[in-house]
Amino acid sequence: MSTFHEKVVYQIYPKSFKDSNGDGVGDLKGIIEKIPYLADLGVDVLWINPFFISPQKDNGYDIANYVEIDPLFGTMEDFEELIAVTHKYKMEIMLDMVLNHTSIEHDWFQRALKGEKKYQDYYILREPKADGSHPTNWVSKFGGPAWAPFADTGKEYLHLYDVSQADLDWRNPDVRKELFNVVNFWLEKGVKGFRFDVINVIGKDEVLIDAEDGIGKSLYTDRPIAHEFIHEMNQESYGRYPNIMTVGEMSSTTIENGIAYSNPENEELSMVFSFHHLKVDYLDGEKWSKTPFDFMELKELLNDWQEGMSKGNGWNALFFNNHDQPRAISRFGDPVNHFEDSAKLLAQTIHLLRGTPYVFQGEELGMTNPEFQEITDYVDVETHNAYKELQEKGLPHEEIMEIIKEKSRDNSRTPMQWTHEKNGGFTTGEPWIKLAENYHEINVEKERNEGTIFNFYKKLIQLRKEMPVISEGNYRGIMMEHPSVYSYVREHEGEQLLVLNHFYAEPVTIEIPEEFLTRPSQYLIGNGTKRALTASLELGPYETIAFYFEVDKKEAKNS
Ligand code: GLC
Repeated sequence: MSTFHEKVVYQIYPKSFKDSNGDGVGDLKGIIEKIPYLADLGVDVLWINPFFISPQKDNGYDIANYVEIDPLFGTMEDFEELIAVTHKYKMEIMLDMVLNHTSIEHDWFQRALKGEKKYQDYYILREPKADGSHPTNWVSKFGGPAWAPFADTGKEYLHLYDVSQADLDWRNPDVRKELFNVVNFWLEKGVKGFRFDVINVIGKDEVLIDAEDGIGKSLYTDRPIAHEFIHEMNQESYGRYPNIMTVGEMSSTTIENGIAYSNPENEELSMVFSFHHLKVDYLDGEKWSKTPFDFMELKELLNDWQEGMSKGNGWNALFFNNHDQPRAISRFGDPVNHFEDSAKLLAQTIHLLRGTPYVFQGEELGMTNPEFQEITDYVDVETHNAYKELQEKGLPHEEIMEIIKEKSRDNSRTPMQWTHEKNGGFTTGEPWIKLAENYHEINVEKERNEGTIFNFYKKLIQLRKEMPVISEGNYRGIMMEHPSVYSYVREHEGEQLLVLNHFYAEPVTIEIPEEFLTRPSQYLIGNGTKRALTASLELGPYETIAFYFEVDKKEAKNS
């Protein structure tokens, strides 16, 4: 039976994928049109970012109705058709469930505002402190205080994200019941997977207190009760259906918690997204800064999570890209001088690890950051808040723009580049956000005719299905002190894989440890010249190579 260990997920940001009706916004019919393209890539599951009714203050992560489709994206009939078409192509749909908060336009919040006690208890409302200051000193993840006035009641509501996203009170059993019903509604529609948005912050304490660091994260992240809530959700919804794949987005989590969320024995989730490896270009932990990425930190973090999760029987979601991250090729690769090689290096590094790989739309073409010039080119609420905060700190406009160009979430949200024609073939109308100008050179049409990145992804996806050493093997990091190469070994029932990933342009010669030189090996996949494994091996710019060894079965058993 094929499990999620062998699967690869493709993430679709629906607003920017394909517009079918010329209104400038991608939609469900647009996705349906492109299903054969995705089937050709070979992915198994399509994670679609939220397309439910929403005022779109945070691009759909501010949900006003969990069980209706926003007309911007289509209708329920379109969704049913989408499910049917994906099934025809042997793929499944994974929905994005934003259960930590609702939009303030949600009926629950609106009824709470009108004074209905039942719904006031759905949210986290508190009195300000005696001195009139906010109930706690916590800050919102999008900047500013995490509290806002709750109409003229004198109380304030908690919003860990935008002021339009009010946190739900998971301690209230009625809230949990409502949310589990939402999950069950979509399960009944034939959905086979869920990505749970910021699910490790749902467990707030009964009594909320000031944070010593003035931020508050540690007071609401990974609380033991979050595990209880997730387990309960599992038992009340997806745990009752066969083969449902779930992934939790875990903000600032730990390996220990990652294991607890994803070890099958705990019956919580199939796997987790963690983000530490994507903070290696933050200066002193500050996202809104500009600094080269720290390679040693990147590989140590990947290694620690691989080893740690493996030991505790947890499971990682593997990724460098998503809708909240700048494009990895612009961040860790070199799209100008080593376009194809660096795109493939990043792909292979991730795809041969232990876990389930995620491909974010356009990654399979090597799509890059758009390099917008004006702040008005950006749409994202977090980016605009950051712009204001950096301005208040006294940074000049040019410097702020340099930072935003590198860090904005809109870097990955520009429209999918299908062709070299107007708007990259994304829409016949006016796109909701500008395209990256390089759609003339980087697009699906061109990639399919003359590129090699798409086919490289295709091969990696296929290998995972064919080779248990990739889907099931253990992980071991080697040559960890090397300053430009991240190498690891995967092992499974006598088979072995050695993966060498060189992250820089300057060629480098590495000495291969003795243990790999005593058995015959085969060049499995890479982006350079096919060659044999030798004691001394030169790696070219951004070169990645995997060698395969079939160890004698008897030897494997005895060792
Ligand atoms: C997650 C989403 C992000 C959203 C936030 C609040 O981090 O990925 O896009 O803004 O949650 O819902």
